[in-house]
Amino acid sequence: MNMKKRIGEYYNRRAATYSELDAPNTIVSYVRSVGIRDHLEVINPEQDDKILDVGCGSGRFLTHFPKANTIGVDFSLNMVKEAKKTGVALVCGDAEHLPFKDNSFDIVHSAGLMGVFRSKKIIDEMVRVTHPGKCIYVSFPATLSVSGLTALLFLKLSRGKYNPSLFDCWYTEKDIATQFPRNLGVEEIMRLGWEFPFQRFFLRLKSRKLVRAFAFLEKYLRNKPILKFFCARFLVKARKKQR
Ligand SMILES: C[S@@+](CC[C@H](N)C(=O)[O-])C[C@H]1O[C@@H](n2cnc3c(N)ncnc32)[C@H](O)[C@@H]1O
Repeated sequence: MNMKKRIGEYYNRRAATYSELDAPNTIVSYVRSVGIRDHLEVINPEQDDKILDVGCGSGRFLTHFPKANTIGVDFSLNMVKEAKKTGVALVCGDAEHLPFKDNSFDIVHSAGLMGVFRSKKIIDEMVRVTHPGKCIYVSFPATLSVSGLTALLFLKLSRGKYNPSLFDCWYTEKDIATQFPRNLGVEEIMRLGWEFPFQRFFLRLKSRKLVRAFAFLEKYLRNKPILKFFCARFLVKARKKQR
């Protein structure tokens, strides 16, 4: 079975329980909510912006974008069914062949997708559907992070059989540059977002006190240079060039 089909089947199976990641009082859901806040601060959408969320999953970002002009796309039918609960418009489609006309959106966003599937074609498609002069915002898991290095170590020790992380694809800043076409100018590469190499373990720790303690630690570390290595993601802002 090819990689894409395997990913599709995985997410179809995973869809019914995917929103557990956002169940309250877990460190994982806290981290995910901080992730949404961080992305929104960078994107800063306006009410009339036409927004596309690529690989939208169960739709955790969709509800934070202006509802009337936002559309989510995911190739897992079960994820799309979950995301329909947000009341935002959805399309079931492949990010490598986005079912939209050229230059259709003011903001094209994608979180998590590049971590499961490495594809330059996806970036090309996101750029194609973006208005010239407007931006795409894409997250990439960072190789040089606690999560990245732990996952790579486990993969190496188990000869590729065991990956403790949800992610499979890791990137350095140099890797990211090679994914981008010439008509896209990178404006910012930010390090954001805590992720855990052992997410399943952290999901079990349901406690308000623990979340509060973690939130305190996170706010303290946020301003320290060492935090960079606990931030497992890059968020890249890149602008489609005007011809
Ligand atoms: C890690 S999840 C991220 C979901 C969501 N963006 C979030 O942040 O919670 C990756 C999502 O990408 C979707 N996906 C993977 N490959 C895709 C492709 N080629 N086309 C469209 N969606 C894809 C999966 O079905 C899954 O919902």
